[in-house]
Amino acid sequence: MFGIFKKKEVRKHITFDYSSLMVDMHSHVLPGIDDGAQTPEESIALIKKMMALGIKKIIATPHIMVDYYRNTAETINGALEILKAELKKENINIIVEAAAEHYFDETFEKRVDDGKLMVMKGNYVLFEFSFINQPPNVIPVVQKLKDLGYKPILAHPERYPYMELEQFKTLHDWGVSLQLNTISLTGYYGKEAKKMAETLIDNQLVDFISSDMHHLRHAEALKNSLRMPYLEKLLFEYPLKNTLLM
Ligand SMILES: [Fe+2]
Repeated sequence: MFGIFKKKEVRKHITFDYSSLMVDMHSHVLPGIDDGAQTPEESIALIKKMMALGIKKIIATPHIMVDYYRNTAETINGALEILKAELKKENINIIVEAAAEHYFDETFEKRVDDGKLMVMKGNYVLFEFSFINQPPNVIPVVQKLKDLGYKPILAHPERYPYMELEQFKTLHDWGVSLQLNTISLTGYYGKEAKKMAETLIDNQLVDFISSDMHHLRHAEALKNSLRMPYLEKLLFEYPLKNTLLM
């Protein structure tokens, strides 16, 4: 019995893609400004893989992290223009926009105060936490974001080992949307991240899913995610908000 069940867990043949999702809103496909694509050629290779999986629009979200990736509107928009020119040259038709993945530390609140956030359509702001420990002042900063009319989104909640389900429920109640990395469902980031991803789905806490694409291994994992029953549930039975960003 167990053997039969196990076989059913993962699909052998992929019968659908990400067409219904339309928008991938977390990726590192802009060339040369963070740990994602380094050249326009690498950007194009990643974008082609995403298009082949049914993605219609890509929102690039380079890291803004004070000690590592000192990106600004200028560096991000500059890289977007380089990428757009390359897409045009290659005759590739896809909508690419840029926002950012803001690192949530003490410099983030200053950025909020200074109005220096890179937002998506609808004033959505993507941010990430440290992978080691929870940043202080999360709720007050979230409240500030909301008071200023922003819609906060926490990137890959399943990847913070120090966070527990109850904390995600609280954040969600405070108006933070949660964005799952699709490839977490394959176990790409380990068993714990996969388990938390599934728990978040079971608790109706997932608002967006996306690739967090940095390189071709992520593209391969994104394709493999289509075999996972949890992804089928997300794509066909879940009120995901990705299409709001189309
Ligand atoms: Fe990311």
